[in-house]
Amino acid sequence: MTTNEKNYILVNMLYILLSKIFKLFDFVKGYLIAYSYFLIPHIWFRSLGRQCCFQGFPRFGYAFRDIKIGHNCSFGIGIFLNCGPNGYIHTGKYASLNDYTYISSLYGVEIGDNTRIGEFVSIRDHDHSFADSDVLIRLQGFSGKPIKIGSDVWIGRGVFIGKGVEIGNGAVIGANSVVTKSIPSFAVAVGSPAKVIKYRTNKNQNHCILSK
Ligand SMILES: CC(C)(COP(=O)(O)OP(=O)(O)OC[C@H]1O[C@@H](n2cnc3c(N)ncnc32)[C@H](O)[C@@H]1OP(=O)(O)O)[C@@H](O)C(=O)NCCC(=O)NCCS
Repeated sequence: MTTNEKNYILVNMLYILLSKIFKLFDFVKGYLIAYSYFLIPHIWFRSLGRQCCFQGFPRFGYAFRDIKIGHNCSFGIGIFLNCGPNGYIHTGKYASLNDYTYISSLYGVEIGDNTRIGEFVSIRDHDHSFADSDVLIRLQGFSGKPIKIGSDVWIGRGVFIGKGVEIGNGAVIGANSVVTKSIPSFAVAVGSPAKVIKYRTNKNQNHCILSK
């Protein structure tokens, strides 16, 4: 074995060791953050599942709101969860919210099991009311409807999801799409406004994978 090859193997082993240490550090840090929520229950989460992983400390609009997170969910950095008094944010298990995702709920946002949400995604179940041009928009309140995102959905980076939208199980939403209408299960939808371009293949004609 040449010296170059030896060095290559050594550097690789060092890299693997360091990445394992960092992973362990992230894991411990995630637990510490999650545990701090449990010290004073319900300040930030009405319920927080087991083994959730936090790369960063989420920001919250208000404390003591109806935010329920399932088991094994993961959170990137810079996540913002904003929940009004009648709103809720509920996720199933193994949901993943990537960096800088923003969820704002006055009516309700539900996210299913195993759903992946890319970075810079904005999910808002309400809009400013603006019908009356004689009144400042900021004084006209809000209108909206709950949002429901199914299980095993993949939402690309930079997507906007608006009020009343339902995204069916297994759907895929392309990066930077603006979703203003509901998307059926297993559809692939892209663009602004998001339109279905195809459906994912369904070899077995049963979607039992979603119940796992
Ligand atoms: C939608 C996506 C998954 C591609 O799916 P695909 O089945 O490989 O689709 P294709 O690349 O064959 O594209 C099909 C058509 O949709 C268009 N398209 C694909 N993604 C698009 C998008 N985000 N916005 C607008 N159009 C898009 C393609 O240009 C193509 O158009 P054409 O038929 O006129 O040529 C991918 O483009 C995407 O958006 N991925 C998200 C990646 C991401 O955000 N990752 C980070 C989060 S984890």
